[in-house]
Amino acid sequence: MKAQSSNLIALYDKYILGNYPEAPFSLVKGQGSKVWDDTGKEYLDFGTGIAVNGLGHCHPYWVKRIQEQATKLIHCSNLYRFPQVAQLAEKLAKYTAPGKFFFCNSGAEANEALIKLARLYGTCKAGEEGKSYKIIGAENAFHGRTFGGMSATPLEKIQKGFRPLLDGFTFGKINNLESFASRIDDRTVAIYLEPTQGESGVLPCTSEFLQGIRNLCDEHKLLLMLDEVQTGVGRTGRFFGYENAGIIPDAIAMAKGLGGGFPIGAIWISDKFSDLFTPGTHGSTYGGNPLACTAAISVIEVMEKENLLARVAEKGNKLKTSLSKLADKYPQHITEIRGQGYLLGIGMKKDPTDFISSLFEKGLITVPAGANTVRIYPPFNVSDIEIQSALEIIEQTLDGLK
Ligand SMILES: Cc1ncc(COP(=O)(O)O)c(C=O)c1O
Repeated sequence: MKAQSSNLIALYDKYILGNYPEAPFSLVKGQGSKVWDDTGKEYLDFGTGIAVNGLGHCHPYWVKRIQEQATKLIHCSNLYRFPQVAQLAEKLAKYTAPGKFFFCNSGAEANEALIKLARLYGTCKAGEEGKSYKIIGAENAFHGRTFGGMSATPLEKIQKGFRPLLDGFTFGKINNLESFASRIDDRTVAIYLEPTQGESGVLPCTSEFLQGIRNLCDEHKLLLMLDEVQTGVGRTGRFFGYENAGIIPDAIAMAKGLGGGFPIGAIWISDKFSDLFTPGTHGSTYGGNPLACTAAISVIEVMEKENLLARVAEKGNKLKTSLSKLADKYPQHITEIRGQGYLLGIGMKKDPTDFISSLFEKGLITVPAGANTVRIYPPFNVSDIEIQSALEIIEQTLDGLK
């Protein structure tokens, strides 16, 4: 492999905070399912910026809409109205139950808004502030790096060094209803889950479990808040991951795939609870600006025009079957294949760092996750030939693995 630019590495070393691990290459261009590094090497991108570039890189329609909007109005304050935010909400509303939206810039911000919703609900429920505020989250959850997000993320590697965190979180085990039921008390206000835990290794909640959680929430008057930041906007082959379980949550956080690579996050709150936010209770200077909303609108338009949800559901199934055949062929390396649609995880017998590096060398980008997992997150419009090439690279690499 040709070495990446030593000048760029030196600039990083000098000016960029060391909060990310050492990067294996420097990317300069993307088109469709492919990206190129600064030595001209081509990669198939089956990481999509960790479930972000659903349309692949630089989809021409998405780029054109962003370019056009950039010449008209990029930012204005949420103190005024602008059409794009309402148009985006109207588009998203086709995929949710009746409710309302708030737009922000990232997944962590969307989750902060959900946690604030739970606090407002608790204040309203108890009739006084600070009494009912407990949220039951899940072991191994990941909800982001803000203080609210970290507090809801019971992972030592995330929380270490930042304590004391936000009060009021307790954690059950996914797919174990009793571990949630037993944590409910008169101070509990919400249950908070990812339909599939992405960062911790593509660990799906079963439909029965999510249905049971919905019933528990109804029985105890708790909010069911879902973090769809990684699973949402088509990744599982349905617009939202929870649809696979046939339930309806009370609130949803989304981000990543929503802008297709342009930063935007959102929460949806069902009509029953959306009045809890009143003027002055929350806000974001940049949240839902005309440019970000245009990017997200065009993502949804392309998904609809190109019928990408159905495509992800069908092709994702096939890809999972092909990966499962590799799991059968290489039981010494692979434990199982998890997930749905284009949210797939290869569970490995041991730390997959070297495996992922070998995939890079052969021109395939994948992303590690917890539980020795390799995430396979292709763009929704990836071609059959590109999937075949990725499978061949994975097989060759497994073949050479000690
Ligand atoms: C489920 C989930 N929630 C929240 C986040 C945080 O999102 P962001 O990095 O946009 O703040 C992530 C990011 O990986 C995520 O997967």
